[in-house]
Amino acid sequence: MQVDKVLFKSCGDNRGQLIALEEFKEIPFSIKRVYYVYDTTQGVKRGCHAHKSLEQMLICIHGSCKILLDDGVEKETVLLSDPRVGLHVTNRIWREMFDFSPGAVLIVLASKLYDENDYIRDYVEFKKYVAAK
Ligand code: TYD
Repeated sequence: MQVDKVLFKSCGDNRGQLIALEEFKEIPFSIKRVYYVYDTTQGVKRGCHAHKSLEQMLICIHGSCKILLDDGVEKETVLLSDPRVGLHVTNRIWREMFDFSPGAVLIVLASKLYDENDYIRDYVEFKKYVAAK
């Protein structure tokens, strides 16, 4: 599955930690959009879609959450609980985010602007889409 966990370098000193992310350096694509998920209602599942062409880097910068990834053949669940770790999710991967800890903040860096036409929100349609190519 085309999903990588990336460990970012943290610039720590006696004042604390700082992580900087730049496009084509720590982030392997041009960053066109940033959004974050916070104040998540306990027990909910978010995401539940795939993208036709969007790439993303998911970072749980506070607390933890789990990400279910599915390329149409294999499924894998990844725990994000470290602000130094990014999950690089390419296109054509179904993702579901769940088990958000209270106060968790998930930040997402995206390679394109928001475009509803890039979404596949129906799982049956996703399975057909990946099987066809
Ligand atoms: P939604 O796609 O339901 O989020 P998730 O994938 O986490 O379940 O998005 C929630 C709302 O936010 C929806 O009305 C669309 C809007 N939205 C934007 O306006 N821009 C964005 O970049 C994103 C990701 C969502």
